Order: sequence, then C-alpha cells, then structure tokens
Amino acid sequence: MFPSDANPAGNVFGGEILKQIDIVAGIVAQRHCGTNAVTASIDRVDFLKPVFVGDLLILNARLNCIKNSSMEIEVKVESENLRSGLRTMTGTAMVTSVALDDGGKPTTVPKLLLQTEEEKKKFAEGLARMEQRSKERRREKAR
Ligand SMILES: CC(C)(COP(=O)(O)OP(=O)(O)OC[C@H]1O[C@@H](n2cnc3c(N)ncnc32)[C@H](O)[C@@H]1OP(=O)(O)O)[C@@H](O)C(=O)NCCC(=O)NCCS
Repeated sequence: MFPSDANPAGNVFGGEILKQIDIVAGIVAQRHCGTNAVTASIDRVDFLKPVFVGDLLILNARLNCIKNSSMEIEVKVESENLRSGLRTMTGTAMVTSVALDDGGKPTTVPKLLLQTEEEKKKFAEGLARMEQRSKERRREKAR
C-alpha cells in the first residue's frame, strides 16, 4: 500500500481496502458466471486490524453460494509486513454479485459443484444469509 492510499498517520483508508474487496469479488463472480457481473451489495465489512503504508495486501475470495442470478462471495483480507513477513488478518466482507446478460439484465448463473462437506456447509449458510437479505429488502420496500 502506498502513501496515496492512507491518511497522514499512515493508516490505509477503509475505502481503499473496500475497493480491492470489490475488484476481487467481481473477478470471482465473473470467473464463475462467464458474463458481466456487478456488485449488488456488500455487507458485514469488518476492519479487524489496521493496515499501514508499505504493507502488502493479500485478498482471498471464495464463492459460497448462488441463487438464480446472484452469488455470495466471501472475501478475507490479510496484510503482510514485507520486512518481518508477519501476516495479520485485517478484514472480512460478504459481497453479493449479480450476473448480467448482454442486455444488462440479471441472468441465471451456472450451478455450483459442491464436493466437500465444508463447501456444502458454506453453501447452506450463504443461502440462509441471501434469504435473510431478500426478506430485509422486501421489508424496506414495503415501508
Ligand atoms: C443489482 C441489480 C442488477 C439488480 O437488478 P434488479 O432489477 O433489482 O433485479 P432483481 O430484483 O430481479 O434481482 C436480481 C437478483 O439480484 C438480487 N439483488 C437485487 N438487489 C440486491 C441487493 N441490494 N443485495 C443483494 N442482492 C440483490 C436479487 O435477490 C436477485 O437474486 P436472484 O436472481 O439470485 O434471486 C441492479 O440493482 C443494479 O444494476 N444495481 C447497480 C449495480 C452496480 O452498478 N454496482 C456497482 C456499483 S454502482
């Protein structure tokens, strides 16, 4: 991370990390659906520890779950001190991406092949969160 990514004290801006989260989640989504995909929402963004100028940012993302056109992507952010090699878990986020067809409309994404017990568990947990989000959006709309 560079000085332009941070405040005068050297703490990297949360918005800069959010941008990287958004980019990585978009790559994961588009790799899976093979079409354009946009970020519909980002929730549960937690900045657990500070990231400083000079740190290397490492993002790992996985596709937890799909519904019809939407996908839940979990992103974990680590920072690495390049001198000591020490890695710290600095943040996590849940991103919902929606696959779009060439006309810009939501389109069905390919099914996920769930092979391990962990993948099945992540899928079930993701689906429960997706349904909860839909419920909250419907409640908001009705207000
Ligand atoms: C996301 C977007 C494509 C959804 O379009 P829409 O016409 O509302 O589509 P629908 O209501 O048919 O929903 C399509 C899917 O998106 C999901 N979705 C819609 N809004 C959502 C939200 N705020 N959070 C999570 N999922 C959302 C729906 O649950 C549905 O999922 P499913 O197909 O798996 O069941 C549209 O709101 C959009 O284009 N937003 C801007 C996206 C963007 O440009 N992001 C970058 C930053 S500006």
